[in-house]
Amino acid sequence: MSESNDLRFIVNPGGALTGRLRVPGDKSISHRSIMLGSLAEGETTVTGFLEGDDSLATLSAFRAMGVQIEGPDAGRVRIQGVGLHGLKAPAAALYLGNSGTSMRLLSGLLAGQAFATTLTGDASLSGRPMKRVVAPLTKMGACIDATKNGTAPLLIHGNSTLSGIDYDMPVASAQVKSSLLLAGLYASGRTCVSEPAPTRDHTERMLTGMAYPVERTGNRVCIAGGGRLRGIAIDVPADISSAAFFLVGASIAPGSELLLEHVGMNPTRTGVIDILQRMGADICVMNGRDVGGEPVADLRVKFAELRGIDIPPEFVPLAIDEFPVIFVAAACARGKTVLTGAEELRVKESDRIQVMADGLQSLGINAQATADGMIIEGGPIGAGHVDSHGDHRIAMAFSMAALRAVGDIEINNCANVNTSFPGFVEQAARAGLCINTR
Ligand code: S3P
Repeated sequence: MSESNDLRFIVNPGGALTGRLRVPGDKSISHRSIMLGSLAEGETTVTGFLEGDDSLATLSAFRAMGVQIEGPDAGRVRIQGVGLHGLKAPAAALYLGNSGTSMRLLSGLLAGQAFATTLTGDASLSGRPMKRVVAPLTKMGACIDATKNGTAPLLIHGNSTLSGIDYDMPVASAQVKSSLLLAGLYASGRTCVSEPAPTRDHTERMLTGMAYPVERTGNRVCIAGGGRLRGIAIDVPADISSAAFFLVGASIAPGSELLLEHVGMNPTRTGVIDILQRMGADICVMNGRDVGGEPVADLRVKFAELRGIDIPPEFVPLAIDEFPVIFVAAACARGKTVLTGAEELRVKESDRIQVMADGLQSLGINAQATADGMIIEGGPIGAGHVDSHGDHRIAMAFSMAALRAVGDIEINNCANVNTSFPGFVEQAARAGLCINTR
């Protein structure tokens, strides 16, 4: 993004976070509600839909493929499902903005269509690895052209004769798993995916909710092609990945006490709570309940003195999107925090290991990037400038760091906060963090 259309955050130092908030809907579940709702028979109604640029990119893609979708209107969306074979060829390439989930899941879903599609994205998305889906989809019989580096644009030729495979995923990735399961809906026989560590299972849960049989044994999930999906009502919980900024903000700012309402507590997503609690955070999980097959709770968080820890590597996939803000918690903790086994962070919307290490160093923190993680020594946070590299989660993480800074923190390239958290600046202001935008 050029300097001229840059959005800058100038975040005032100090303060505390108080009151109650409901952060926007879960991004992963919002994407899947549009995809599976479109492929279902009958109507799917969604409440709590995330009206962020990423999930809106998915919504526009399905409209472009002939699906009638009303909304979003205050988080409400109504989808007239066209059935597994009812999508139509779009008139132009599908532009997916910054959204890796849209591109990887759609690659699988579109591989089995009778028509060709081209998927494009912004500069960040066009640099992200797509071979991880193209290679196994090709084994199923898909025909997908990528650049010679294995990146977008992707031309998906479409092939109505995919065959199921049994795939051992080399990386723990819910996007890869979901892409193959969606292709599996169109394949002959069974498609099975084994994961090296548990990853978010929203696709499996929603398929089951729509009466499509999914079989899980240990780390292996299988589906057979040729079934049908039934339209349902979906209530999207608040996104724990967005709540995470406030969990950390309230934990590091003296005097904070915050209630975060209706937060998705799927056990494949709650690593951030486990990590923060091990660091000494005061987080209380209340009113646990089930909402349409997804666990939900209210979270009460109060300021606490944090201490540095060695983060157990098995928590990495369970907190994969939360590390930018966990690094901020580590910078405010007493002692050293060490993260290993997290090389995937280098291929997110930005290289989150390098970008966070650079930003923390520019605020005076001793943060050393390693090949697969980071070593952070807690200490006082200075004022300064940080470049978010257009990565929404980096921008929001450094906004929270201001709660403990000695002066303003100025963050460049913040427009993409809208991809996952529209209204972030306003919600932060309501809780007590003042972010000026320029
Ligand atoms: C997502 C899976 C994760 C996560 C991303 C959303 C999903 O990516 O980082 O923000 O909705 O399936 P990976 O599967 O690449 O780990």
